[in-house]
Amino acid sequence: MVIARYHKIRIGNHVLQPETLMLGYGYDPALSEGSAKPPVFLTSTFVFRTAEEGRDFFDYTAGRREPPAEGSGLVYSRFNHPNLEIVEDRLAVYEGAEEGLVFASGMAAIATTILAYLRPGEVILHSRPLYGGTEVVIEKTLTRYGIEAEGFIDGLDETHIHAAAERAMAKGRVAMIFIETPSNPMNTLVDIALVRRIAEALGGKQGFRPIIVCDNTLLGPVFQSPLRHGADLSIYSLTKYVGGHSDLIGGAVLGSAANLKPIRALRSAIGSQLDPHSCWMLSRSLETVSLRMDRAASNAEKVVQFLCEHPKVARVHYPPLLPADDPSRQLMKRQSRSAGSTFSFEVRGGQAEAFAFLNRLEVFKLAVSLGGTESLICHPATTVHSGLTEEARRELGITPALIRASVGIEHPDDLIADIAHAFAAPT
Ligand SMILES: Cc1ncc(COP(=O)(O)O)c(C=O)c1O
Repeated sequence: MVIARYHKIRIGNHVLQPETLMLGYGYDPALSEGSAKPPVFLTSTFVFRTAEEGRDFFDYTAGRREPPAEGSGLVYSRFNHPNLEIVEDRLAVYEGAEEGLVFASGMAAIATTILAYLRPGEVILHSRPLYGGTEVVIEKTLTRYGIEAEGFIDGLDETHIHAAAERAMAKGRVAMIFIETPSNPMNTLVDIALVRRIAEALGGKQGFRPIIVCDNTLLGPVFQSPLRHGADLSIYSLTKYVGGHSDLIGGAVLGSAANLKPIRALRSAIGSQLDPHSCWMLSRSLETVSLRMDRAASNAEKVVQFLCEHPKVARVHYPPLLPADDPSRQLMKRQSRSAGSTFSFEVRGGQAEAFAFLNRLEVFKLAVSLGGTESLICHPATTVHSGLTEEARRELGITPALIRASVGIEHPDDLIADIAHAFAAPT
C-alpha cells in the first residue's frame, strides 16, 4: 500500500533483527506529518484522487488484477487500513512469513481460516487438546455445515497420527490439519515436521495435500516459528503474549501470500478484521514483546523450580522438567527456543485443595487468559475446559486438581512468596 509504509530491513549487508524492526517497520513518518509514532487512522473510507484510481484500487483489492510493484491504495477499512497493515507487516517480519492478516480476535482468525478452506463433506484432522473455543468451533459449529473432524492426542507418535489420518480419510477429503503446540493447558507438544510428512503422505493418497495450520499463541513470535518447521499458516490469539497487557482482543494468521489469499477474501467479505485503535495498541505492544516474553519465561523457570520442590504439589507439566532423553523434551529443543511461561500443575488432593490454594493468592490474579504482564491463574476443569465432557477432560489429563498458571513480569521472589503463602494456609 502507498500509505504508511516503511520496509527497510537492511543496513548495507547487515540484516536488521525483529527486535529492531518492531520499532519502525511498516511506518513512514514522512507520510504522517513527521509523527514519530503512527497516528490512529479513524476513518471508515479513503478518498481516491481520481475515478480511475478508485476503479484500479477496487480491482486490486478484489483480486481481479495484480497491483503494481509500489502496491495498491487503501479503499475501505473493512478491507484494510493503515494501522492494520503496520501490525500485519511487523508480525510477518517477526515470523519470517511473506504476509500477515490481523483479525478481531484469535477465534475470528481461526474461524475465518477454517471457513476459507473447508467445504461440506471435507474433514479437519486436529491435535488434542486444543484451546476450548477452537474445539467447540471444530466439533460443534462446523459439524452443522457438514464438516467432519478427527483428533489425535499424541503429537509425537507417527503411528498414532497416521491412524487418525486414515480414520479422517474414511470420512471424506482431509482439507486441513490444525495443530496447537504447546497445547493449552497441558503443554503437550506436536511435532510440526512429522505432521508435514503425514500431510504429504495424505496428499499422495487423496491427490490433495491438506493445508497445515499451527496455533502459535503460547510461544510465538519470539520462541517458535512453525512456518520454518513445515506449517503453512501460523495462527494467533494476539490477545495473549503479543498484546501482552490483558487489555485488548485480537488475532492473526501468517503465511505465504498465496495461502492467505482465500482467507483475506473471506475476511474482507465478512468484516472480521481488527479496528484501528486495537491495532495501534498492538503495534506498541510489539515493541516490547521479546522483553516481556524473555522476562516472563525466566520468571516461570523460577516458579516451576519452587513448585517442583513443594510438598503440596503432585506434578508440574512443563517440558524442560522431563528427562533429557524424553522425546517431548528433545522435540521442544528442536522446535522452540524456550518453554515460555504458561504451564499447569496438579496440587495434592482434588478440586477443594486447588480452590483453597487459588483463593489465598494475592499477587497472581484469578482469571482466565494468559500472556499478560501480570501473572494469571485459573482452574481449567471448571473454567476454560468446563465445556468438555468429564470423559474428555480425563482423557486429556485435565483433572480437578489441575491449575494453569501464566507467569508475568513481576519480581519472581514476589510470585514465589505468594505461592508459598497460599499453600501455607490450612486446607
Ligand atoms: C491457544 C489459543 N488459541 C486461540 C485462542 C482464542 O483467542 P481469542 O480469545 O483472542 O479469540 C486462545 C484464547 O484463550 C488460546 O489460548
